Amino acid sequence: MAMKHIEVLTLFPQLLQPFLGEGVLGRALRKGLLEVSLVNFRDQGLGRHRVVDDVPYGGGAGMVLRPEPIFAAVRERIARHGDQGRRTRTVLLTPQGRPFDQGTARAWAEADEALLLLSGRYEGFDERIRTALVDEERSLGDFVLLGGEVAAMAIIEAVARLLPGVLGNPDSMAEESFALGLLEYPHYTRPAEFEGMRVPEVLVSGHHAEIRRWRDAQALERTRARRPELLHGDAPGTGENQSRAGRRETPSRAGPAGAPRTAATRRKPGTAPAARKPAGSPGRKAKQAPRAGEQRAIGSKTR
Ligand SMILES: C[S@@+](CC[C@H](N)C(=O)[O-])C[C@H]1O[C@@H](n2cnc3c(N)ncnc32)[C@H](O)[C@@H]1O
Repeated sequence: MAMKHIEVLTLFPQLLQPFLGEGVLGRALRKGLLEVSLVNFRDQGLGRHRVVDDVPYGGGAGMVLRPEPIFAAVRERIARHGDQGRRTRTVLLTPQGRPFDQGTARAWAEADEALLLLSGRYEGFDERIRTALVDEERSLGDFVLLGGEVAAMAIIEAVARLLPGVLGNPDSMAEESFALGLLEYPHYTRPAEFEGMRVPEVLVSGHHAEIRRWRDAQALERTRARRPELLHGDAPGTGENQSRAGRRETPSRAGPAGAPRTAATRRKPGTAPAARKPAGSPGRKAKQAPRAGEQRAIGSKTR
């Protein structure tokens, strides 16, 4: 699999810079496991003042992002990826989009196309951007943010942690919530007793088969209690957003007699990701220097 390219087109690239320099994501960027570029719409702004917005036709509150700078910025990025033999997926971030979920994250992590995330501000984008420029629209949830940058950051994290080599221990991915169509079982650590609350006996028993059974039962029980729709296929990674990997893990198909897929029936942790060519392998295209208007985020550096 080729290295993953993600771009955020925004009016506030500086909001993402510190985020991209820290923790697991910062390390992954420095190791070249993925690349994130920040593109400022204002570089394509109109006139001396680099105008990107205007008042809405028909009146009303707030400003609307004009089509010219947005079309120009996106087309420039698509052409650049095209020159490097790479397809793109252009995603408009909007509360009106389909919900982004774990299935979407898996599909995007697996796809060999650059992801262009269009982050709005003010009242959002001129409608012609939605109808004629983007491939799809995605929402982070049923709430309204000031801008799409936080949504972009959430998507970058969700996609990046699924890329080969990004997580130190890929097992954590195999068991976590949504990977098997269930919420994950509860975790405990030391001390064994805290303010009168004891860790369940089975977890300190050292009996691995019993621990496995307990965890599977807990995962099922809490999914039934908190998110019963996950057990009926109406779930992240099981509905229309579902990736190939997600379909393999649909609870109703995975276990015997329609039973949810649990530890006993799941694939060996990490087998699917390991089948992919590791990122950063020889043969991937050489990096090109960023152009004007593009910042390439490698660690916390802006180049
Ligand atoms: C204040 S919002 C605009 C909301 C728009 N007027 C509406 O009612 O649908 C400004 C920008 O924030 C981003 N945004 C806000 N809420 C979002 C959400 N739930 N998911 C993804 N992006 C969101 C979008 O990029 C949007 O263009």
